[in-house]
Amino acid sequence: MKSFSDYSALADKAIKDIRYPGGELDPLYEPIGYAMSAGGKRLRPGVLLMACEAFGGDPEAAMDAACGIEMFHNFTLLHDDVMDNSNTRRGRPTVHAKWDSNTAILSGDTMLTLATRLISKVPDNRLRTVLDIFNNMAIRVYEGQALDMEFEKSTDVTKEDYIRMIMDKTGALIGAAAQIGALIGGASDKEAQEMYEYGMMLGIAFQIQDDWLDVYGDSSTFGKPIGGDINNNKKTYLLLSAMEGDESQRKALTDAMALDSGATKIKVVTNIYDRLKISEASQKAVSHYSSLAIAALKRAGIKDEYKESFRKLTDKLTGRKR
Ligand code: IPE
Ligand code: IPE
Ligand code: MG
Ligand code: MG
Ligand code: MG
Repeated sequence: MKSFSDYSALADKAIKDIRYPGGELDPLYEPIGYAMSAGGKRLRPGVLLMACEAFGGDPEAAMDAACGIEMFHNFTLLHDDVMDNSNTRRGRPTVHAKWDSNTAILSGDTMLTLATRLISKVPDNRLRTVLDIFNNMAIRVYEGQALDMEFEKSTDVTKEDYIRMIMDKTGALIGAAAQIGALIGGASDKEAQEMYEYGMMLGIAFQIQDDWLDVYGDSSTFGKPIGGDINNNKKTYLLLSAMEGDESQRKALTDAMALDSGATKIKVVTNIYDRLKISEASQKAVSHYSSLAIAALKRAGIKDEYKESFRKLTDKLTGRKR
């Protein structure tokens, strides 16, 4: 039985083999190569390839789409790091920190089109369906990112609002990766939809775990600095859970969030989280959405050995530290 790491390794190799124009276009393409070769978990292309094989397809036939999905993911990261003012990712300077924001914008734009070009290489009989899925997914990601930024300024965000926002910004892409892989592998539209639902639930769990790591992770393993979400007033699962406390707890938290960005603010907010056992509450939510992912998987029309590989991946991500 193959495991997820076999598929992510296949994707990683193909991604690192992509060549970019150089010479006078180095300023455009060098940051793209930098972002694409920087490692990362290769979650989305790995899921796409594994879903393809789960329906009897050859992963090689899905490699362009897998590279396209990872290119799209990395495009969103270039722009996200500008929007979130994040200077470190995967333990290295982000593109806008190493070059500048104009570079992150334009290299990001280029990555979006390179991604679309790669996705467009799917076999003709699936092209329209896959492009529709890809384009609809992309719009959802932008809408999710817009909500994420709106919520920074808002004080009445609910957990339902939050779940809808992360379904858009994070779940839609992981869902589409599973769905597109399934379609290339030969799944029916209905079977591919079931894989989408698995990816969507996995994506929700994945983003809550990302929020948790942003507070409770180890930056050398996580690759990103700790406390960025607190400094940016992000309405994370942790913050919204803490806001469910009583009046005095809510006031303490509101006062802490009003502090200037910096180490003190991170410390004060984290202390409140600790007191309210927010770490445990968010880990419970990760487990909850992981179990919904596994429930969706049970309904999927794939052989048991692939269900087992997806289940193992889901478990691994639930406890991930990077
Ligand atoms: C980061 O995604 C963005 C989120 C949706 C949290 P990953 O955690 O998959 O990033 P890499 O590609 O592995 O670095
Ligand atoms: C990730 O949200 C969503 C997208 C990049 C679309 P975050 O802003 O939490 O991701 P990180 O933490 O910067 O990787
Ligand atoms: Mg963000
Ligand atoms: Mg970010
Ligand atoms: Mg994050």
